[in-house]
Amino acid sequence: MLVPLLLALFSSPLALAGEVILPSTLPNFAACVNEPLQFSCENTTAITNTCCSPTPGGLVLQTQFWDLRTGLESEGQLLPVDSWGIHGLWPDFCDGSFTQYCDLSRQFDPSPSPNTTNGLPNGTFIPPYTGPGVDTFILALGRLDLIDYMNKYWINQGAPNKDFWAHEFSKHATCTSTFDVKCFNNDKEHQDVINFFDAVIRAFSKFPTFDFLAVAGILPSNTTTYTLAQLQNAVKAQTGAIPYFGCTDRGTQLDEVWHFNHVLGTEQYGHFKPVDSTTPSTCNPTGIKYLERAPGSEREVRVIP
Ligand SMILES: *[C@@H]1O[C@H](CO)[C@@H](O)[C@H](O)[C@H]1NC(C)=O
Ligand SMILES: *[C@@H]1O[C@H](CO)[C@@H](O)[C@H](O)[C@H]1NC(C)=O
Ligand SMILES: *[C@@H]1O[C@H](CO)[C@@H](O)[C@H](O)[C@H]1NC(C)=O
Ligand SMILES: *[C@@H]1O[C@H](CO)[C@@H](O)[C@H](O)[C@H]1NC(C)=O
Repeated sequence: MLVPLLLALFSSPLALAGEVILPSTLPNFAACVNEPLQFSCENTTAITNTCCSPTPGGLVLQTQFWDLRTGLESEGQLLPVDSWGIHGLWPDFCDGSFTQYCDLSRQFDPSPSPNTTNGLPNGTFIPPYTGPGVDTFILALGRLDLIDYMNKYWINQGAPNKDFWAHEFSKHATCTSTFDVKCFNNDKEHQDVINFFDAVIRAFSKFPTFDFLAVAGILPSNTTTYTLAQLQNAVKAQTGAIPYFGCTDRGTQLDEVWHFNHVLGTEQYGHFKPVDSTTPSTCNPTGIKYLERAPGSEREVRVIP
């Protein structure tokens, strides 16, 4: 009786495996199963399979904006109520320096900024992209759920959202080793692009900056001001680390946050460990305005129970 039972146990998962339909955007990370697991920027041995841990860009920044308007309100391009907006997911070197536009064969940015790359080859002019938008890449793979989320939280200023998404992919993901073309099966076109977008929103969901601040009593206000220490302590109380806060208007108006991390495993699926910012804040120590948006510049995108 034992032998047929064992055969049944071993054969049924195999039979099922043949029917499992994997998302068309998954990277091929099977080789990572046998790699030593180390936090990026904390590895004590060389990371030989660069698909398995972001390297050399192992200081991973999940960056966000507090914009007050989009400039395209009349076209329905609005900011999410009670939420910061996504900027991107950046691969800094462990010392905080970085490269950008590292693979010109994956240049989808309609307005490269800067217009020369310091990724390899250094100094090369980056031609503006004029092909179909990256939104068409997402739709071609049937990811209506993804494009819907991105249109809620990943909002451009003065140009369509899709241009911003393309910019972030070509400027930053092409310098992130775990999004290299070689890490994918390449059985579907642009699966690396869609996998990056998925990774960005997954990382963003770990850092609800609006909520971190709100639970400490720090809310947008056109009459109150805050200190930098108040902002930093509110986030540190939740993540254990001090992020970078950016301000415009000579350090008086809060408009940016960068959450720094080391990552255990890949940037796509790994565990993010917040670490202190390597970049000094551009906000003044006191008198920081965290301004309310005009009602016409935002929309409710949450599911309110
Ligand atoms: C960490 O990994 C990188 C990439 O393989 C390597 O250059 C570096 O020397 C490693 N660090 C240590 C301390 O082994
Ligand atoms: C590249 O950018 C620089 C600095 O913004 C600008 O002065 C220059 O005209 C641009 N070059 C081209 C060919 O667009
Ligand atoms: C690229 O070239 C510039 C100017 O020559 C230099 O300052 C910079 O360090 C170089 N960057 C890299 C990553 O080699
Ligand atoms: C708050 O101030 C900003 C900047 O002046 C303005 O754009 C916005 O409309 C104001 N919001 C409200 C709700 O008054």
